[in-house]
Amino acid sequence: GEDVLHLAQRHDIELEGACEASLACSTCHVYVSQELLDKLPVPDEREEDMLDLAPQLQENSRLGCQII
Ligand code: FES
Repeated sequence: GEDVLHLAQRHDIELEGACEASLACSTCHVYVSQELLDKLPVPDEREEDMLDLAPQLQENSRLGCQII
């Protein structure tokens, strides 16, 4: 399926994807509901490293381009 970044963009929800999903930015940062979070695989190390650079990081932070 389509990742959250591209889904958002297709539905006119403002979400930036500066690096085009290559895990080189944190502009696609999103907060994920607990319900969805429970269903997602845990972020890999590269996503974690980028998330660490995201402003206002929370427990439920993820990178939108990595959520499929
Ligand atoms: Fe850059 Fe998602 S768009 S990490």
